[in-house]
Amino acid sequence: MNKPQMAPSILAADFNRLGEQLRVIEDCGVSYLHIDVMDGLFVPQISMGMPVIESIRKESGMVFDVHLMIVDPIRYIQTFADCGADIITFHVEAAEDPETVIAAIRKAGKKVGISVKPGTPVEAVRQYLPEIDQLLVMTVEPGFGGQKYIPEMTDKIRAAREMIRACGADCDVEVDGGIRKETIGTALEAGANLFVAGSAIFRGDLRENLAYYEKFLAQA
Ligand code: DX5
Ligand code: ZN
Repeated sequence: MNKPQMAPSILAADFNRLGEQLRVIEDCGVSYLHIDVMDGLFVPQISMGMPVIESIRKESGMVFDVHLMIVDPIRYIQTFADCGADIITFHVEAAEDPETVIAAIRKAGKKVGISVKPGTPVEAVRQYLPEIDQLLVMTVEPGFGGQKYIPEMTDKIRAAREMIRACGADCDVEVDGGIRKETIGTALEAGANLFVAGSAIFRGDLRENLAYYEKFLAQA
């Protein structure tokens, strides 16, 4: 399991200055970069895909944490692996056979993540825990940045961490949606160790925001 750290989500970046912002993030010592891929079917929005990842891969050494919000993810595992993903997270609700998707990600030599929407109980992924690297607990309904953390998800984070412990697995618990100053402590205390944040990082001063969360997690 990784030490507690931030995973800035570029969904909230200024795409006109993406390269510049990524250099600031990397310069501030951040190792994870969260990349949201939306297909307009699994979620209403269409965000970004392979060309963006391929392009930023050329200049970034960060861990690319690719969050696939797409139906039938098996179709695109090799493609995302080839264009620079390090971790590929798919939604259990979107996969016909999660085992096959896990196997495809492993075959491509990448780390495996599974995500659950707010309405999906963590029990739905229990059987996969020994085979995956991270469990992504959505703390908002996937599809849009800037939403409010759903308070009921705190118990789910706790249940996820407990379930991982109970089955002797060693995976990260990542939280995504509405993570900001007011909510990060609650998610941390409940057992999360990777914190995706879009608006909280990119709104306002990027360096100041990154410094705040780095200090917060270092003292935790
Ligand atoms: C939402 C995405 C998130 C999003 C989080 O579907 O998966 O990664 O960027 O945005 P904030 O931090 O603004 O809630
Ligand atoms: Zn995400």
